Amino acid sequence: MPILEVESLSVSFKQYKAGFKQVQNQVISNLSITLNAGEILAVVGASGSGKSLLAHAILGILPSNARTSGIIKYAGEILTHARQEALRGKEIALVPQSVNFLDPLMRVGKQVRTSVKSGDAAALQRRVFERYHLRKEVDNMYPFQLSGGMARRALLSTAMVSGAKVIIADEPTPGLDPVVIKEALNNFREFADNGCAVMLITHDIESALKIADKIAVFYAGTTVEIARVENFSGHGEALRHPYTKALWRALPQNDFIPIPGSQPHPSELPTGCLFAPRCSLATSECQVVQPDIRELRDGMVRCIHAN
Ligand SMILES: Nc1ncnc2c1ncn2[C@@H]1O[C@H](COP(=O)(O)OP(=O)(O)O)[C@@H](O)[C@H]1O
Ligand code: SF4
Ligand SMILES: [Mg+2]
Repeated sequence: MPILEVESLSVSFKQYKAGFKQVQNQVISNLSITLNAGEILAVVGASGSGKSLLAHAILGILPSNARTSGIIKYAGEILTHARQEALRGKEIALVPQSVNFLDPLMRVGKQVRTSVKSGDAAALQRRVFERYHLRKEVDNMYPFQLSGGMARRALLSTAMVSGAKVIIADEPTPGLDPVVIKEALNNFREFADNGCAVMLITHDIESALKIADKIAVFYAGTTVEIARVENFSGHGEALRHPYTKALWRALPQNDFIPIPGSQPHPSELPTGCLFAPRCSLATSECQVVQPDIRELRDGMVRCIHAN
């Protein structure tokens, strides 16, 4: 049984357009993913593709004006709002994208110690700080005294000592030096190898490929492909979706050719396939309805022509 399941999640926000016309902006549409114990699932997608909102939906911390539909299950049971509150920071820990999640009024050493459920909190906190190269003096600092990179390491530490079974890490590495990035990625791998699970949200496909088992590719608020990391090789022949192939080929070590065009804004989503305006393989059938995600060659794809 998967440890975490997201089934047909949609999230929208009410927005007012010129003339006070009210519209519902669909920011996540029909998104499904599963996460198994022992696994790292990387969620890769451009800025604004809905990655943070997915994390916040799982944790139950979406803004109050968000409208959601779909089902999220943890260990086979539906995550109700009450259950999300009970499990947050305990069974499911978030490494938030924004360092503003630190409590500005509490010393960071103490913040990390309070997230320890069992064991010697002081020893665990010091050990994780050492691992992330945070000196002893940092224990007694307040968040405003930290650099961005130090704050991010404190947030990582909080999740790592929490004893959670699932860590959702939302872009945990920007601003960190390569030594610490390597440490954090290794730490996630160990965490998963010990039977827990990690959802690593990132726009850095190269880091993701180093440690993840599977990659979920996001585009304009939905998953277009779920592939095992081994599929990212050669010219992307084993990949399924035109967007994933294009992302892979756009990497500097491959063809380094950027993808023309840009991701549509939630207020201007096309009716058919969301990628159609940029897809060189698009046909008139692609413009009719958004394709369903389907299984293909031990992965998933949302494209009518993928084979
Ligand atoms: N509170 C909000 N109200 C309206 N739109 C929002 C809100 N939060 C995020 N969005 C929109 O949802 C989309 C996805 O946002 P987000 O999940 O933060 O993207 P990512 O983390 O992939 O960069 C963006 O277009 C963003 O503008
Ligand atoms: S459904 Fe059509 S437009 Fe969409 S990715 Fe597939 S081929 Fe391209
Ligand atoms: Mg984000």
